[in-house]
Amino acid sequence: MGEREENQDMPLLTRNRILKSDVTEKYYKVRSNRVAQGGFGEVYRGAVLDKNEDECEPVAIKVSLHPIAWHGEAYLGRLLTRNDSVVQLLDAWGNARKVKYVLVFEWMAEGTVADRLAQDDTAWDEDRVIESIRPLLEVLDLLHPRSICHGDITTRNVFIRDERLMLGDLGITRQSLAEGRRRMHGAPPDDFAPPSVPEYFWSPSDDVYQIALLALALLRGKTVKASEVTTLMLRRLEISDWFMGWLYDALLAKDRFRDAREALECLTFEPVRPARAPSSLRDQRIVITGSLPSMRRDRAEARARRARAAVQKDVNGATTLLVTGEPLGGASPSNGGRKLFDAYRRLRRGQRIAIIDGRRFELLLERERR
Ligand SMILES: Nc1ncnc2c1ncn2[C@@H]1O[C@H](COP(=O)(O)OP(=O)(O)O)[C@@H](O)[C@H]1O
Ligand SMILES: [Mg+2]
Repeated sequence: MGEREENQDMPLLTRNRILKSDVTEKYYKVRSNRVAQGGFGEVYRGAVLDKNEDECEPVAIKVSLHPIAWHGEAYLGRLLTRNDSVVQLLDAWGNARKVKYVLVFEWMAEGTVADRLAQDDTAWDEDRVIESIRPLLEVLDLLHPRSICHGDITTRNVFIRDERLMLGDLGITRQSLAEGRRRMHGAPPDDFAPPSVPEYFWSPSDDVYQIALLALALLRGKTVKASEVTTLMLRRLEISDWFMGWLYDALLAKDRFRDAREALECLTFEPVRPARAPSSLRDQRIVITGSLPSMRRDRAEARARRARAAVQKDVNGATTLLVTGEPLGGASPSNGGRKLFDAYRRLRRGQRIAIIDGRRFELLLERERR
């Protein structure tokens, strides 16, 4: 987050201080020294006081000097009331005279994902990770269609309760009427932003990127930085090919998932079915992998071109047909069958690609001759 101009060392609140909300008329007591200090505010542990001034439920008190950040978080916190994957906002008021803006949240006793990974670096298994990130994507799927981006989904802003992940810190979350990338109130640290995204600009696709980065942290039992994410790193994970494909589409693909909707639609183990095999090669956009039963690759390609097909080097958004010859050296999607891996990723996202073996391809070539 952006730099604070104020003196970083002067806490805004002191222990045992009592605050009154002029919105709900409730009283809160500060019960700790500052537990965290971010770009826009400070967090304290506190408690609700009942009529007898007895302390009741524990709360987190977030206090800020910045009305805009406070307003965004208060507004979105209200919108997300009762969503059980979001840290609940209980109260919000501004004290213009003393220029302090206060937010009160339920206290998350188990802390953040970052806290957890610092104590316990056990890697989570794939199924657990998938089932943990799904509810967060569902929250984003409420926000994204309404042109709201979170913008700061990091291991420090996602909390754990009863082994479930809960989204917190809506401090830079912003609604915008702009299309595409929109300006945010702040920026996450570079370590948690997709490379090449201009600072302070964000899109739904970038929120999904952060969810995938969070998934990687859980799969590895340690925080993963954006700069560490490579195809090789994904390949080294002990996960299924389809989830690896999902992570690739969220993190590395040129056309990353657009938004939480697309990411959710693809977050399913259901096997995808290739399109129906064509009866002619005409107008097909073909990619060949492996070796063909009786023809050399270059000859087969020349003949396919003569049959008015286009031969492509790699699977892309235009590919309609993948020919899978004999794997060269036992390739599979995770150990070299790159083209098949790409075809399945794209099938999952709705592209229609047929997959045929080398024999079938040679038969089609024969048929074109007649
Ligand atoms: N509801 C909460 N319960 C417990 N700890 C919290 C709570 N909210 C924030 N914290 C702690 O304070 C830190 C900063 O809070 P956050 O809302 O992320 O503010 P900032 O905008 O300063 O990053 C969190 O990373 C977490 O450690
Ligand atoms: Mg934070």
